[in-house]
Amino acid sequence: MPVEPFGRLDDDIELRKRLLPLCRLRYGEVWEDMRCGHKVGVLDATKLSEVAAFFEDQKVSLAIQDPPYNVVVGNENTSSLFKCSLENYVMFSRKWVECVLSVLADDASLYLWLGADQKEHFQPLPDFCF
Ligand SMILES: C[S@@+](CC[C@H](N)C(=O)[O-])C[C@H]1O[C@@H](n2cnc3c(N)ncnc32)[C@H](O)[C@@H]1O
Repeated sequence: MPVEPFGRLDDDIELRKRLLPLCRLRYGEVWEDMRCGHKVGVLDATKLSEVAAFFEDQKVSLAIQDPPYNVVVGNENTSSLFKCSLENYVMFSRKWVECVLSVLADDASLYLWLGADQKEHFQPLPDFCF
């Protein structure tokens, strides 16, 4: 039985081709709920300019982040879910953390999901924290 029986959008070209026409938002687009004010954006979380444009001058009181864990998932290594050197992962993390910090209110809460590979000294968790 395959590791991921339903396929993954980041490595299954056929599945991607069939699903993309059904997606309402493309990269760079933002949808705003005019009634309640919710916003959904397809952005690069490491780009300060994109994050700043999305949030305008608003600060948030809660941020929940689920970045790539820097572990190989389902034997695949793609540009969306990747395994790179620890140094590059820390650089990548610095960029998106900087973006998150730029929009947090003073008393905000931040929740993170991170990887910790027991075969690699529980990295990248320790270097991320450091
Ligand atoms: C661990 S997964 C999180 C999955 C998500 N919680 C879900 O349930 O679908 C990490 C996600 O980060 C996305 N990602 C990777 N680099 C990104 C970036 N620079 N900006 C925004 N998202 C990114 C990947 O495409 C992937 O969907």
